Amino acid sequence: MNRIFKTEILILSELVSSYQYFSEAPSNIALVKYWGKKKRQIPLNPSISFTLKNSISKMNLELQKNNEFALKVMLDGVFNENFTSNLLPKILGLKDYFDWIDQYRFFIKTTNTFPHSAGIASSASSMCALAQCLLQADKELRNSEHDQNFLSRIARLLSGSAGRSVSGPIMHWGIESDEYASNLNDYHQIFATFRDTILVVDDQPKSISSTEGHRLMNSHPYRESRIKLAGDHSKLMLTALKEGDLDLFGHTLEQEALGLHALMMTSDPSYCLMKPLSLEIIQKLKEYRDKTKVQCFFTLDAGPNIHLLYPEQERAHVAAFLATINVKSIIEDRVSL
Ligand code: PMV
Repeated sequence: MNRIFKTEILILSELVSSYQYFSEAPSNIALVKYWGKKKRQIPLNPSISFTLKNSISKMNLELQKNNEFALKVMLDGVFNENFTSNLLPKILGLKDYFDWIDQYRFFIKTTNTFPHSAGIASSASSMCALAQCLLQADKELRNSEHDQNFLSRIARLLSGSAGRSVSGPIMHWGIESDEYASNLNDYHQIFATFRDTILVVDDQPKSISSTEGHRLMNSHPYRESRIKLAGDHSKLMLTALKEGDLDLFGHTLEQEALGLHALMMTSDPSYCLMKPLSLEIIQKLKEYRDKTKVQCFFTLDAGPNIHLLYPEQERAHVAAFLATINVKSIIEDRVSL
């Protein structure tokens, strides 16, 4: 009896078609921030980002033919219930693009080359990696060929900022199209040398998710002025990137970063993700810059950690500044070419 049962399992498992895909994708840091969305991850405003070199997500997707959809996500080897339940409707929502999607069991294993809650958007890198796996699967299952714009569209549907992780070094979204991000071709070479030093002020998971932050923009009292301002900042940022105007770059970058956090503080309900140490570092950097004229500028993602963006030639000056700062950890990254 027992032997027959085992044989049946063996035969059944041989009948199940299973496919394996692997991909890697980088994270990105927004210079002009995507904040607020219309339906299906259409951004309220344009955004521009640097793609990062070292902050990468690796993803392994196993698909098993099945009569109904199922999903299991392992993050760093551990089953992640939150990730699984958040991702489930997003993957099913891609049925318009991949009609086979609900006939498979999805088994995802993902890891990042950077620590959690360190101010680096793992949703951008991991969802871009997943989009790459889905395109590989579609090619195998339907013999399809897709271009970068399609990849970006799928990544965007999984997580807005992931649409900008499909290429680099500089991407824009919401200027040429709301549906996908595109490469910025006209930029000064100084930006290819840019470094991103991330000062980890706090590595605890944030109290309010970006999803909730985007949602609060729907009824935000400054919604219309934010849309106008982000449009103006995008134009200024494009000029700065084209002309290599570092003062304009830094000014616009910092206005955007503080503007994003001001929107959080004036949402209803209001919240604040910056910590006293975030403000202290910003203040110290401004003073150091006034004194030394170092061309080093800050930005923040939706969290308390500070990204210092500066050209390679300023490295020694920035190292001297870092020696005066006491943070949990420092992560070194740079613009990906
Ligand atoms: O892609 P999401 O939904 O995680 O939103 C990202 C929002 C910011 O990181 C704050 C800004 C941006 O443009 O990346």
